[in-house]
Amino acid sequence: MELSERLKSAADLVKYRSVADIGTDHGYIPCYLAYRNNIDKAIACDINKGPLSKAFENINRYGFGSIIETRLGSGLEPLKKGEAETVIIAGMGGLLICDILKKGADKLGYVKQLVLQPQRDIYSVRKLIHQLGFRIEDEKMLCEGGKYYNIISAEKGNEFYTDELYYYFGKKLIESKSEVLKEYVTVRINKYRDILEKAKEKSDGGAELTKLKNSLEMFLEVLKRYDMQ
Ligand SMILES: C[S@@+](CC[C@H](N)C(=O)[O-])C[C@H]1O[C@@H](n2cnc3c(N)ncnc32)[C@H](O)[C@@H]1O
Repeated sequence: MELSERLKSAADLVKYRSVADIGTDHGYIPCYLAYRNNIDKAIACDINKGPLSKAFENINRYGFGSIIETRLGSGLEPLKKGEAETVIIAGMGGLLICDILKKGADKLGYVKQLVLQPQRDIYSVRKLIHQLGFRIEDEKMLCEGGKYYNIISAEKGNEFYTDELYYYFGKKLIESKSEVLKEYVTVRINKYRDILEKAKEKSDGGAELTKLKNSLEMFLEVLKRYDMQ
């Protein structure tokens, strides 16, 4: 079964045998997990009927109807307490992921693992993971089709970072000296330098320029960590 690297990386982080895929769309993640015999049960949820019927078709096409159930609804609402050990939320904005987790906080007491793949606002997602009583136990970063993706696996536990850089870029990625993070940071540094150079020529800027310089400093600090460790 062929899956994009992004979806495969998210599925490969799943540790437990009962899962819920929130915003399942095509249902590829639960289908892949069932195909690999990694799960006993999955609940594929989506807020929209169109995506959910797409998931339903795929699930039946692959013959996983007895393992994967589809449910319509927003966020964690379609789940009953204790039904899923792992909750997957992939391919959504970080703020939407945060909203879903906050609204479904009463269900999280029974959840052992979160696998989250925010498209942006990853800082907010890492912060909320800690606020909800989870610790980040693994994180992957990959580049596919010219886009960078982060996938976070979190399990129950108390953890807080005193270093804000870890919330912005991922402690696990920095500590493991992720080559993909290094590439991403280098690309962004070059972009910021280019913009700053052009702004200097035009001698405009102000607050925007200061913000850009601060961002550049933060990205440079990440590269320094690679040299230090
Ligand atoms: C961009 S797709 C991502 C699909 C898949 N998870 C992936 O990573 O490829 C986002 C899906 O989330 C669904 N969605 C958006 N908001 C949602 C919510 N609050 N609860 C459940 N599903 C939601 C959309 O209908 C859509 O099918």
